[in-house]
Amino acid sequence: GLSDAQVWAANGSNEVMMQILQAFGGPGRTALSFAPTYSMYPEYARNTHTRWVQGVRREDFTVDPQHARELIAAEQPDVVFLTSPNNPTGTALDPALITEMLNLTTGIVVVDEAYAEFRRDEPPTALALLAEHPRLIVTRTMSKAFALAGARIGYAAAHEAVIDALRIVRLPYHLSAVTQATGLAALQHRDELLAKVDDLRVERDQLASWLSARGYRVADSDANFVFFGHFPDRHKVWQGLLDAGVLIRETGPDGWLRVSVGTPAEMQAFRTALQEVDPR
Ligand SMILES: Cc1ncc(COP(=O)(O)O)c(C=O)c1O
Repeated sequence: GLSDAQVWAANGSNEVMMQILQAFGGPGRTALSFAPTYSMYPEYARNTHTRWVQGVRREDFTVDPQHARELIAAEQPDVVFLTSPNNPTGTALDPALITEMLNLTTGIVVVDEAYAEFRRDEPPTALALLAEHPRLIVTRTMSKAFALAGARIGYAAAHEAVIDALRIVRLPYHLSAVTQATGLAALQHRDELLAKVDDLRVERDQLASWLSARGYRVADSDANFVFFGHFPDRHKVWQGLLDAGVLIRETGPDGWLRVSVGTPAEMQAFRTALQEVDPR
């Protein structure tokens, strides 16, 4: 288990990550990630005057360990952001790779687990690595599985000394009493708030199989969305779906689209609309 001193809450995991760069990044420091990934990381880097280095992912959106090794050796990052499951691709990271990154860097390794609750049974959460790795920070949020994005509550688990460093850069007074009360209430009603997660995982896996069976390329997903392609004109498909009343995301590398998993009725509406817009 984690002690209170190993946990830090902030206004969304966005703020946690900004604070991580305020504490461990900054002028003369470097942060690194592997794209396509969460598009806000370079923004936090810019805001904190941290040099930003973008590695790439393989065709299947996994991280190539050899590429990661070379990039880390060449760039000597102070902070590495590893997103698992990744947004927008849904890809979970092999814990062995996370351990290797920790061993290769002298800096902080952040594992952004915003979508962790939606994972399949494997791979396990990086929280299991905390006891042995004092430079690891695992971030989570109530914005996804708890469906509480508007409450702006994110949190991190890390070594006490790392949490202390975040405390130094936080704004005075930090989390409002309302935010704290909301977070506590959400935790008290945890089971109810997370009740849909299991159904959603089943729905996600069914959707991924359906898309594959129709001949799409489908990224393996451990998140609450499925990333699929490849479209010569993805905007046309996105627009066609929207015209049919189904809004998905046109995000990430060109040719791919990201569909969030909703209720069975919503997914049926998506399937019907996609068949009309992109008959095959
Ligand atoms: C990978 C990832 N991390 C972090 C966040 C930020 O979440 P929040 O600041 O709402 O906790 C998001 C939101 O889209 C995300 O996709």
